[in-house]
Amino acid sequence: MKINLKYISIFAIGSSLVLTSCFKSDDSPGYEYMPDMYRSQAIEAYVDYGMVKDDELSEAALKRKSTISARKPAEGTIPYYANHTKAELFMPYAYPNTVEGYEAADANQIPALFLEDVEGNVKEGKRLYNIMCQHCHGMKGQGDGGVVEVGDFNPPSPYNGAYKNRSLGKIFHVITNGKGAMGSHSSQLNKEERWKVAMYVRTLQHDGDFKLDELSGFKKEINFSAITAEDVSKMETGSKISLRNVYFNVGSADLSEKSSQELNKLVELMKASPSLKIEVAGHTDNSGDALKNVSLSEARAKSVASKLVASGIDASRIQSKGYGSEFPVADNSSDQGKKLNRRIEFEILSK
Ligand code: HEC
Repeated sequence: MKINLKYISIFAIGSSLVLTSCFKSDDSPGYEYMPDMYRSQAIEAYVDYGMVKDDELSEAALKRKSTISARKPAEGTIPYYANHTKAELFMPYAYPNTVEGYEAADANQIPALFLEDVEGNVKEGKRLYNIMCQHCHGMKGQGDGGVVEVGDFNPPSPYNGAYKNRSLGKIFHVITNGKGAMGSHSSQLNKEERWKVAMYVRTLQHDGDFKLDELSGFKKEINFSAITAEDVSKMETGSKISLRNVYFNVGSADLSEKSSQELNKLVELMKASPSLKIEVAGHTDNSGDALKNVSLSEARAKSVASKLVASGIDASRIQSKGYGSEFPVADNSSDQGKKLNRRIEFEILSK
């Protein structure tokens, strides 16, 4: 009996080994002791889940359609930015991809924030250009990139030749929509990057120089120290002018001595334009407590307004308000940007 059991168990083990080895498939991954760790449950972001046009009706495509996948955001949605100026950049692009849209794009001015750091933006534009554009347009924009040289592609004209007078708005439009044999680059470059590349193309149009003064009509910050009463009379109501040389003691609303020159100028200006009414606005950067920033900017704006009244301007012509960090003019992520955001501004309410 004992012997029998021994033989039976040997037979059982032996035959099970033979059987399992018989069923082994070459495609099988073998034993998976923890399949949930072995096989990712994550969604494959770039798998086609039924959105390929010509495959819309196949059974497989229909099945995939019910699977969750990464998709494009809904048309017209914009990413969130705490910085308003930056958020505005991502508003839908207004110029259609038509001949008319291309012509009209000249009117699309580069947002002022890009001109605060021309050098840095051109440098970043160059970096992106060398990745995205130089294989066709060439390192110097002469239309002699690698794919042109090997003869696979008709050469585009040189930027400093036929394309020399393309405005920044037009260059932005071409990068966004493409033109002729050039495809759209809007999925590779976001709007911020496109403006920077356009700025670099501008330097290639002018042999290495970024020509600011060509940007006629550009809403550059108005230089208050150069302004005359006549200039003010031509400005639209609602125009805002920063007083860049009005300073306060740290954390307080006490005007520092250095401010008197600019404030005296404002007093002169108001005396020379007797019907001019203004709002004095205080702005801070985004560091620290938001509510405190509002009250500090409010106190500073008041302090400037009182100074004007003390210098003989009728109080009914001046309003004051503090906006805290709500309306930045530059990116708060750099010290330079923060400095530009801390400012006293005045707005022309009526003239
Ligand atoms: C695949 C090659 C190719 C790439 C990549 C390419 N371009 Fe072009 N580009 C062309 C061609 C070809 C034209 C001429 C289009 C036409 O008018 O038919 C052109 C035209 C242009 C023009 C002038 C359009 C006009 O007539 O107003 C600008 C500006 C321009 N490209 C900028 C860029 C920038 C910036 C990039 C990189 C983001 C880029 N291109 C990438 C091939 C390319």
